[in-house]
Amino acid sequence: MNANRLTALRALLQHKGLDAVVVTKYVNLHYFSGFRGDDTTLVVTKDEALLVTDNRYTEQAEKQAPLFTVVEHRHGLLKKTAELLLKLGCQHVGFEGRAIVYADYAALKGWLTGVDFSVSLDLDALRQIKDEEEIGYIRRACAIADKVFEDIVHFIRPGRTEIEVAARLEQVMREAGSEKPSFDTIVASGLRSSMPHGTATEKVIEAGDFVTMDYGAKFEGYCSDITRTVCVGEATARQREVYEAVLGTQEMVLAAIAPGKSGKEIDAASREFLKKYGLAQYFGHGLGHSLGLEIHEEPRLSPSSTCEHLMPGMLITDEPGVYLPGWGGLRIEDTVLVTKTGSERLTKSSKALLEIC
Ligand code: GLY
Ligand code: MN
Repeated sequence: MNANRLTALRALLQHKGLDAVVVTKYVNLHYFSGFRGDDTTLVVTKDEALLVTDNRYTEQAEKQAPLFTVVEHRHGLLKKTAELLLKLGCQHVGFEGRAIVYADYAALKGWLTGVDFSVSLDLDALRQIKDEEEIGYIRRACAIADKVFEDIVHFIRPGRTEIEVAARLEQVMREAGSEKPSFDTIVASGLRSSMPHGTATEKVIEAGDFVTMDYGAKFEGYCSDITRTVCVGEATARQREVYEAVLGTQEMVLAAIAPGKSGKEIDAASREFLKKYGLAQYFGHGLGHSLGLEIHEEPRLSPSSTCEHLMPGMLITDEPGVYLPGWGGLRIEDTVLVTKTGSERLTKSSKALLEIC
């Protein structure tokens, strides 16, 4: 387990003038301790690192979280958590305001008599720059996604349903070593391809359809994210033109991703590029998002991005799309690593327009 993560958490406590933090968000339990289960809290102070869980998880936690002292509760997770904070003499305790539900917050606050329990911390921000171990896992998750694409292009044909395509994608993903999909698999074909997040339905794929597949694999808890759009049969001139516009944008963005660039600046460049084709108004979502233990993380590439400077070790997706209701649409997406000098595309599947005959 990476001790730097606890060090960074303790530095944040010191910076905020806190004695302790209660960690409750599932992926943050994993990130700071290595433990991969739920119904658990972490209590971290300057000197202590406690993991509070129940009997289902005690043995697992002792193995997965070697830097933590595992405390087994019998009569309530939050009650035990509060008791430990009081016993440690904590006066100022932070919590994850974006992750804790109000009832749990209120229960803790009720038990923490005389304690300042008012400071909300954004612990997700500590996960923005990935370390080598995390990048290794994301590479594996991306390699699995690529393997799936190699397979699926031989499976798609007129007469198959979107759900059959999604099921095949997910089966191949599992067989290649993935724990589970990173999110609900999107397969949107024909007229449905104008819905950016059209999850798979019983619609039958027909000749002439664009089929957009947006999926990802999880490996050791880490996500990949890829979108490819293929054409079933020969593409029309208009399909070819729109595809080339989106691909051109996607490639331009890939070349633009580099340390120091802002999230707004890259997003704006993509919309400017699509304007040349008269298609910018049909690109309604953000250009990209980070990912890691969660599929959508900060920073973003979008008109409202708060990221002033991309930094080496950040992950970002590059996913422009064009959606024309009543006609169809498409998106092309890669998972990209920001490097010291520019970027590295981690999903490597071909993006040339594929006409499946
Ligand atoms: N690929 C799914 C998403 O970015 O929302
Ligand atoms: Mn995405």
